[in-house]
Amino acid sequence: DRIYRDGVSGRAPAVPTDPAGLEEAAMAVLPGKAAAYLAGGAGSEATMRANRAAFDRWSIVPRVLRDVSARDLSVELFGQKLPAPIALAPSGVLELAHEEADLAVARAAAEAGVPFIFSNQASVPMEDCAAAMGSSPRWFQLYWSTEDELVHSFIRRAEDCGAEALVITLDTTMLGWRPRDLNRGSLPFSQGQGIAQYTSDPVFARIVRNRILHEPVGKPDVRLTRDTVRTLVSMTQHYPGRFLPNLLSAQPRAAVETFLRIYSRPSLTWDDIATARDLTRLPIVLKGVLHPDDARRAADLGIDGVVVSNHGGRQIDGGIASLDALPAVKAAAGDMRVMLDSGVRTGADILKAIALGADLVLIGRPYAWGLALAGSEGVSEVIANLRAELDLTMGLSGLRTISEITSEAIVPQA
Ligand code: FNR
Repeated sequence: DRIYRDGVSGRAPAVPTDPAGLEEAAMAVLPGKAAAYLAGGAGSEATMRANRAAFDRWSIVPRVLRDVSARDLSVELFGQKLPAPIALAPSGVLELAHEEADLAVARAAAEAGVPFIFSNQASVPMEDCAAAMGSSPRWFQLYWSTEDELVHSFIRRAEDCGAEALVITLDTTMLGWRPRDLNRGSLPFSQGQGIAQYTSDPVFARIVRNRILHEPVGKPDVRLTRDTVRTLVSMTQHYPGRFLPNLLSAQPRAAVETFLRIYSRPSLTWDDIATARDLTRLPIVLKGVLHPDDARRAADLGIDGVVVSNHGGRQIDGGIASLDALPAVKAAAGDMRVMLDSGVRTGADILKAIALGADLVLIGRPYAWGLALAGSEGVSEVIANLRAELDLTMGLSGLRTISEITSEAIVPQA
């Protein structure tokens, strides 16, 4: 109602209400490097295009005369009632979009009551985001480090700051081939951005200290910007007991180098996932599952949910569209909860994903655009717009609740 009232009163919204306009407006305010990292995909970006095309191949078939005056978008997930089938995807390096980064997103997520999934590659330590969120839902996303102890530390911290699920991302054992960044020589991590979860971690600090003591740091093979040093210095002040005392220039360099060396474990297998069950009491969600056999395997191990995702087309060029993978994964998922991301941009997209078997969708880039344009308020607007559009699309389709959205609501386009 409010969004419509503003629309007729001539008051312009904080962010454009259409996805193309939203991205375009964000592109216009973001520096080139930031725009490249946030918007870009792998290779020729065929997967990114496929993600969108997959949604366009389905059409909603509305039903009429069903009394849609009262509608309810809420869903139940992992024992919690959520206001809408929407969560904010884990996004690293949000400082590229806005100086308040994850903190601004945390506030907007809390205001809306939608889960915010803290990225392992965040720009703000999870404890700070959690503190800004009251009791609103938050999950933690893990990249499985080569260092088991660091993995344990991250999981402990996530539990301590009230995370309600552990999301293990499996599609980024290595960073994808991303020409927009490569051509600029501007992969953010190499400049120390997006490593706040690490620099605020006592186990990571110990690993870095050992490296400095026992390995010559040698010639820097990474470039340090003033921003990096500033971030690390501020982290040291913020967590005086938890990071290296007497910050020396070698230390930020060693921190960045150590991060790049240990953030991910390409040798990860199902055996490691089997051990995850013993590491936490939290529900475990595997993110990046696209093959039904992998979903079956996860279900066999007692995993609680999967996110059908190709990482927004950022990892494999020419990969299957996330929405195209959804029906088979759903059929293989058994009791697991099934979530989807990659290419979700509108209320109609959310309806289609639910009709094809998703319990909930994750939103990625759109909230980063809102953040870039108007900080926390921009993120709030993006969430509100998606909810409003889903609500209208449901009502106009003769659907009152999320559980009424079934495969009968859509048909493949002729
Ligand atoms: C991501 N994604 C991501 N995923 C993850 O598990 N951990 C992470 O740190 C990040 N970081 C990240 C940064 C940026 C800038 C983007 C755009 C994406 C992937 C993200 O969680 C999600 O899968 C996709 O963004 C979904 O696709 P859309 O909505 O962006 O098309």
